[in-house]
Amino acid sequence: MPDITLTQLRSMKQRGEKIAMLTCYDATFAHTSAQAGVDMLLIGDTLGMILQGHDSTLPVTIDDMIYHTASVKRGNSGSFIIADLSFMTCATLERALSNCGRLMQAGAQMVKLEGGEWLAETITQLTRNGVPVCAHIGLTPQSVNVLGGFKVQGRGQDQAAALVETALTLEKAGAAMILVEAVPAALGRAIALAVNIPVIGIGAGPDTDGQVLVLHDMLGLSLGGRVPKFVRNFMADGGTIQAAIACYVSSVKDGSFPAAEHSYTE
Ligand code: KIV
Ligand code: NA
Repeated sequence: MPDITLTQLRSMKQRGEKIAMLTCYDATFAHTSAQAGVDMLLIGDTLGMILQGHDSTLPVTIDDMIYHTASVKRGNSGSFIIADLSFMTCATLERALSNCGRLMQAGAQMVKLEGGEWLAETITQLTRNGVPVCAHIGLTPQSVNVLGGFKVQGRGQDQAAALVETALTLEKAGAAMILVEAVPAALGRAIALAVNIPVIGIGAGPDTDGQVLVLHDMLGLSLGGRVPKFVRNFMADGGTIQAAIACYVSSVKDGSFPAAEHSYTE
């Protein structure tokens, strides 16, 4: 099966068909998730926490990202592959271009970077050079030390309006997708309505154009830390990993995930 394209993902938004995305770090899970109907596989820098056991995503290197992206690429059949730019790898335009070149050559079909308006020029240049960009806004875990913890973002009218503005600016700069993390459900909805590109949410309520979860979280696996409110353990419904992932996909598609209990209020 040919991989899903950005054109198809855009028309899913227009049709109102929910997009199901999961993180993925290796070939076997890429195969399993693609078979279960996951539309997009994200090689997230959460691999620093999930696979490597760090307490943040900051230690992850671009070589780590390339290794896992190449692994996912080899197992994938049909999903759209997005790779994260890890900490400091797009701090200058030059770095962004060379690191994205490597990620795309390893098998990524889009890159994701964390940040706001200041990345507009980087996004424009990457797109001109053949690299579609997903802009990650809201809670941006690489800035955990600036934010003062993993906290809900965009609370209150001013903060919410500012985040909608950020989304519009990044769309105008050429971003092909937005990922919004840990914001009130009403703001997730407002961002999805404001832009024409697909908006994927995690802890952003039910009204974004799609959802993403960390694979290990939705399989109920953890290192023992606190599980975020927006996570649902699909193994409880599924019984097997294949069934759990299929249940995640169908729950995103039919709108039953996320429910109110997985969402933040204003
Ligand atoms: O790194 C990651 O897995 C992510 C998702 C949590 C969105 O960025
Ligand atoms: Na990430």
